[in-house]
Amino acid sequence: MKVLANDGVSQSGINALEKAGFKVITTKVAQEQLANYINENDVDVVLVRSATTVRKEVIDACPGLRIIGRGGVGMDNIDVEYARSKGLHVINTPAASSQSVAELVFAHLYGSVRFLHDSNRNMPLDGDKKFKALKKNYAKGLELRGKTLGIIGFGRIGQEVARIAVGIGMNVLTSDKFVDEASITLNFFDGQSNDFKFKTIPMDEVLAKSDFITLHVPAQKEYVIGKPEFDKMKNGVGIINAARGGVINEVALIDALESGKVAFAGLDTFEQEPTPAIKVLMNNRISLTPHIGAATNEAQDRIGTELASQIINLLIND
Ligand SMILES: NC(=O)c1ccc[n+]([C@@H]2O[C@H](COP(=O)([O-])OP(=O)(O)OC[C@H]3O[C@@H](n4cnc5c(N)ncnc54)[C@H](O)[C@@H]3O)[C@@H](O)[C@H]2O)c1
Repeated sequence: MKVLANDGVSQSGINALEKAGFKVITTKVAQEQLANYINENDVDVVLVRSATTVRKEVIDACPGLRIIGRGGVGMDNIDVEYARSKGLHVINTPAASSQSVAELVFAHLYGSVRFLHDSNRNMPLDGDKKFKALKKNYAKGLELRGKTLGIIGFGRIGQEVARIAVGIGMNVLTSDKFVDEASITLNFFDGQSNDFKFKTIPMDEVLAKSDFITLHVPAQKEYVIGKPEFDKMKNGVGIINAARGGVINEVALIDALESGKVAFAGLDTFEQEPTPAIKVLMNNRISLTPHIGAATNEAQDRIGTELASQIINLLIND
């Protein structure tokens, strides 16, 4: 049986599939050639990330296809219901990257409270000429321990963020439209563990009481954070968005940064991807990453091996 990993797959995933007898093709087939390629090569499984789309036309044109797999979470690039109605399995790996995204949140947070995003912009330019002035500019750093982190969206990633926050001694407030409570286990290096119970509270309360706020909700039609929400936050709050562009109103964010209401923002996702607004890119109070939340070796390994084991279960063990 053949697997076409059109947007790539980790070597660990390839190894697991090959061990089970699959041939794995990692050629990048152009979107318009995809259906032809699948048919001519008798591909049973097509794996994609976000680049390749698998729409109704491809599904209709490829009667031999049995599984569509998405490495990662969002499946907006696949006609999932249609594929399932035609008897195809559609699989993804929703939990594989949660830890990586959660750690990136803390990369932005730890960096921002010590002005690393700005310091890294200015040290190469002025570090030798204005060392003392820069030192003064970045003198009023903050510690995270003891501060309150507000987590909006308490699903897989929100809970991973809470796990790290508790571990470093932060107070954690959470809000979720659908989740009322969740229990999280902290496992320590020496085998000890501790359970924590969280009850979610109304979002307005999280907005009002948090020193830092991080968003972990899915993409939605309306902004979750716009001017009315910024107005409810503490002065000097920090905000992180590693969820989806469009969850924060970026125009309102820039205003809030300029007025001082928001001290800093950390953004991994943008309203306009892959061409974020220049006003966002140029703002020296924003810590920026180009949508790399899931982009760690560990997450990509987990994605590959999870896809492989699901494929093996569906096509071999069933
Ligand atoms: N930066 C990256 O590279 C990256 C990687 C993976 C996932 N993500 C994004 O992270 C986000 C969270 O992923 P997840 O795996 O934790 O999803 P999840 O479905 O496990 O959790 C999302 C939570 O948000 C809650 N929710 C939905 N709308 C809400 C609202 N308006 N207010 C409050 N809560 C709301 C849901 O009830 C759910 O509990 C998604 O947008 C996902 O696309 C980003």
